[in-house]
Amino acid sequence: MRRFIHVRHSIWLFVIGCCGYATAQDSRPMIIPVESKQNAVVLQVDAKGQLSTIYFGTKLSNSATYQQIPATYQQTVDYSGVANAAYTAAGSKNLFEPAIAVVHADGNNGLDLRYVSHKTISRGPDVEETSILLKDPLYPFEVTLHYKVYKAADVIEQWSVIRHTEKGNVTLQKFASANLYLKASRYWLKQYHGDWVQEMQPEESQLTHGIKTLDSKLGTRANLFQPSVFMISLDQPATEDQGSVLYGSVEWSGNFRVDLELDNLDNLRIIAGINNYASPYILPANTAFETPPFLYTFSNKGKGDASRKLQRWARNYKILDGKGERFTLLNNWEATYFDFDEAKLKGLLKDTKELGVDLFLLDDGWFGNQFPRNSDHAALGDWQENRKKLPNGIAALDSMAQRNGVKFGIWIEPEMVSPQSELNAKHPDWVLRQPGREEHYFRHQLVLDLSNPKVQDFVFQIVDSLFIKAPKLSYIKWDCNAVIYNAWSAYQGKQSSQLYVEYVRGLYKVLARIRAKYPTVPMMLCSGGGGRVDYGALQYFTEYWPSDNTDPLERIFIQWENSYFYPAIASANHVTDWGKQSIKFRVDVAMMGKLGFDIVVKDLKEQERTFCKEALTNYSALKDVIWHGDQYRLADPHEGSVAAVMYLDEKQSSGVMFNYLVNYRYGEGSKLPIRLKGLDPCKRYQLKEINLYPEEVSTIPDNVTFAGDFLMTIGFNPQLNLKRTSVVIQINEAP
Ligand code: GLA
Repeated sequence: MRRFIHVRHSIWLFVIGCCGYATAQDSRPMIIPVESKQNAVVLQVDAKGQLSTIYFGTKLSNSATYQQIPATYQQTVDYSGVANAAYTAAGSKNLFEPAIAVVHADGNNGLDLRYVSHKTISRGPDVEETSILLKDPLYPFEVTLHYKVYKAADVIEQWSVIRHTEKGNVTLQKFASANLYLKASRYWLKQYHGDWVQEMQPEESQLTHGIKTLDSKLGTRANLFQPSVFMISLDQPATEDQGSVLYGSVEWSGNFRVDLELDNLDNLRIIAGINNYASPYILPANTAFETPPFLYTFSNKGKGDASRKLQRWARNYKILDGKGERFTLLNNWEATYFDFDEAKLKGLLKDTKELGVDLFLLDDGWFGNQFPRNSDHAALGDWQENRKKLPNGIAALDSMAQRNGVKFGIWIEPEMVSPQSELNAKHPDWVLRQPGREEHYFRHQLVLDLSNPKVQDFVFQIVDSLFIKAPKLSYIKWDCNAVIYNAWSAYQGKQSSQLYVEYVRGLYKVLARIRAKYPTVPMMLCSGGGGRVDYGALQYFTEYWPSDNTDPLERIFIQWENSYFYPAIASANHVTDWGKQSIKFRVDVAMMGKLGFDIVVKDLKEQERTFCKEALTNYSALKDVIWHGDQYRLADPHEGSVAAVMYLDEKQSSGVMFNYLVNYRYGEGSKLPIRLKGLDPCKRYQLKEINLYPEEVSTIPDNVTFAGDFLMTIGFNPQLNLKRTSVVIQINEAP
């Protein structure tokens, strides 16, 4: 044991020296601990070279003791001996859900993967990647498991690379990114489902024996019914501040599949990756198939701690410009829908300046001539300005915006095509459709074949030409409204079973090209609301649109659930006319992220306008802590009449607390104080209500001061009631 730890250490030195693989030194079980600051995934190689998971959870202070773990469990018999395989292969001893299933070039479907070697290399400060090579003893077929560990963040990205040198093609029937194996007395799954305007509806339940699968078969806006994000609580349901919980998510913007199998040993196998549904993949010899990463974090301090880890990781490593700035904006979608012209937009540009936001975002409806985009029935694919609406093109709008002292952004939906479009007539083979079959439309449109390099060029050029026409263009809203029906690609032909995979790869190729040329321009990831939010896409996008449902009451719940997985800086929240709430309530809710407006500014009453401007001034002062600070969920709207969320800077010296009444029955209000979190117990804090409506006097005394330990033990009452349904409290360390 001790010897292995020593061996592992020398492997590290060896790798630094020559970057080669090191092999097991003898036949005793060897352990490979993959450790972050607080957690560990511990793998073991037995005498036969079988690689298994012997531990997943909180890191132990002495890694030598991991090897004692298996003997402390007295569960039932593992008939296969590979129930805890680190990457379960179908077709030999395995009796459970596999991570990989293949048909070899000779038609045989057996696979057995044995350890060959492993190495750990540095991937930058605080990031380490362990890779483990496994090979089939019979066929020239191998899989390398990769574990990229973000140490301080306690996040692991895990993926696999599959290769072979067989005489002919191998068909991959299943090709998961990761295969975890957890031990606990019981497991609770928190999962999400949804639909348009109903994204991120949570459900939490105890897992029973057998398989629970979370998946998508929609192809494009893959998260419409179900996203890949989930949580698993061990032993008992984790709460915000207590319990052991794993968060997982597949970094893939297409069909995903997560199998959660509670086996006869009462252990939980998690197999996650691309969905293999209708997707056998033909792998030629000497070609690597790299899966997308499966992302996970683990905390023994509850859901709040796990989400802060993930949010920090996302800001530091994943979301484009995660540590940067964002633009506040005025969008015209709900203000005009398709009904606008240059004169109207000129007015909106003035309103943008008058309101005091940074940018005007022109939404859908600006393009198409033979088939003008005056409704959602036509013109997707024909990305030329409509001459009637915009006779001087977007270049003129861009210049007008500059003259008004604001920036200009634009909506596109470049992966799509309307049946009524010049593009569809010109390139019918660029469109995903089944020859000879009835066509089915989702929002009256079809999907372009992004697996085709010519289509990738076309989509890249849509974006590129916008920047050529309007060089100061400062923002893009990238929409994706349709799912894939009739999944068949003229380009893939007989290999159309690879379409779902190649579509997403094609999309990423285009996005990577855009980012190579335009590295930082902000782009919003939108998909008919929140139909496509995942970390595969967010490495190219600065923000996402959580939902077309902008009713602020609904948004409290949608933003609350998204916040477990995504940081506030990425959440594009717009104030619209949805819902019955006051403008104050709407603005307060939208401030918990990246604030925008989608309203008719000139219809605002004088006081409403004054309020918005003051709120924007407050937002300027608070946005840094909202975007880059730690988020604490204080009062859960699912559990009571109040929702409360706070953001706190790293120094624990300034922050903001948002409080909302979510139940309007007689006598409802914040009856109990709300406990703050994350403060320094020894510091004193000054609390002040801000975002007051003009002439409204706060019932909270100005600049009242409390000790940190008081605020965290007893709490603070924002005095919510039916007349004060939204209260924003600024927190500052007392001078
Ligand atoms: C989708 C988006 C909306 C808007 C419309 C335009 O539904 O989610 O925000 O951009 O498309 O057609």
